[in-house]
Amino acid sequence: MSDISELFSLDVEDPRAAIFLDPRTATDAVRWHEVAAELRRNDPVFRVEHEGVTPFYAITRHEDVFEISRRSDLWHNTRHSVLMPDLQQQLLDGMGFTPHTLVHMDGHEHTEHRKVTNDWFKPAAVKGRQEAIEAIADSYVEKLADLGGECDFAQDIAVPFTLHVIMDIFGVPAEDEARMLELTQGMFGAADPEYMGDMSDPFATIVSTIEDFQAYFNALSEDRRAHPTGDLATVIANGQVDGCPLGETAELWYYIIVATAGHDTTSYGLSGGLAELLRHPDQVQALRDDPGLAHNAAEEAIRWTSPVRTFLRYAQQDTEVRGVPIAEGERVLLSYPAANRDEDVFERAGEFDITRPDADKLISFGVGAHYCLGSQFARREIRTMLPKVIDALDTIELAGEPEFAEANFVGGVKHLPIRYTLR
Ligand code: HEM
Repeated sequence: MSDISELFSLDVEDPRAAIFLDPRTATDAVRWHEVAAELRRNDPVFRVEHEGVTPFYAITRHEDVFEISRRSDLWHNTRHSVLMPDLQQQLLDGMGFTPHTLVHMDGHEHTEHRKVTNDWFKPAAVKGRQEAIEAIADSYVEKLADLGGECDFAQDIAVPFTLHVIMDIFGVPAEDEARMLELTQGMFGAADPEYMGDMSDPFATIVSTIEDFQAYFNALSEDRRAHPTGDLATVIANGQVDGCPLGETAELWYYIIVATAGHDTTSYGLSGGLAELLRHPDQVQALRDDPGLAHNAAEEAIRWTSPVRTFLRYAQQDTEVRGVPIAEGERVLLSYPAANRDEDVFERAGEFDITRPDADKLISFGVGAHYCLGSQFARREIRTMLPKVIDALDTIELAGEPEFAEANFVGGVKHLPIRYTLR
């Protein structure tokens, strides 16, 4: 089915359209941001037309991404909130696999489903898990020592660390880590050839991944209904919407959104943040001298890397953005990486600086009704791990060029070769 696999790498001549449509453009972050900066300046509501993809307007300014996200009455997510070629969407729809997670819901349905787990993700509740996050982080710092003086930080540390935290949240046993890794990469890594296995047919991979998820999490839910514990799986398994149990399908989508949204995203933030830190040895030293900088360093890592690249929104009535008329039913693509480098909001937006006072204006987690449910976890994971790594090592440097994943939905540094000496 090579015709389907080709859909994942659309050949797009216009570089301005390519940065949104062709996942390969994400592998050259410098070039990607040059093109985005030009759009932000000259064409911030840029209409993208390409054969096989329903047209959309790419939104690259911070203020516009913010306003559109905030107005969830005017702009809906719908069940087609993730950009993909029309044929791929039609195939998913036709097979009955149209995703139906929180980011694919609107209005009452969304509010009710979000309520099921909302308390679990509130700052105070997440703070209560700091000790567990620390313990998991420490075990991966020990792993750094075991690996000698060289490793691929992304694959050896960041990916398993962030996965382990999610498993701990769900309450699934550590021995299922490898299986969970395959499942999350099968969903979100589907645009990158490295994660595709034999992948002559990426569509079939997504479908079989969903089926594997289903088998695994149905069993988990049944167990938690029979033997409730304090974990998130228990909350989902016993969750109710409008007074009725969630049901198997809604539970499945809940597991999928938390497992996938909570894993690759954070690991890309951590690896990409460390990669950029290592290009600035003075900032590594600053963090070593003042671990209190970790909080701001995590914000800057997440601004800089913007691991979630896009979400779509659909106009519910005729409207306009920056004077560009947008008809009811038309769609806009929110570009978080572009908005996070907006010079109108961030001083020296194109410079990585863990001491910047405006890091907290990052828009990487979105805003409004769909604001990232797990942002407190992501921030804690990164600000816990970065100073621990720096503190445990006497020296640390890049041992090669960081390598970026091919991705136009969730992506970032997938290989980070580092060389280090232990204290
Ligand atoms: C650096 C890491 C992360 C980034 C950049 C990120 C980014 C995002 C973004 C952009 C959205 C959509 C926001 C919007 O439409 O306004 C989102 C939603 C979501 N995220 Fe995250 N996320 C991260 C980590 C996590 C973690 C660790 C979890 C779970 C433990 C998580 C769970 C979710 C869920 C459940 C939603 C859907 C919320 C809704 O639609 O109501 N995310 N995230």
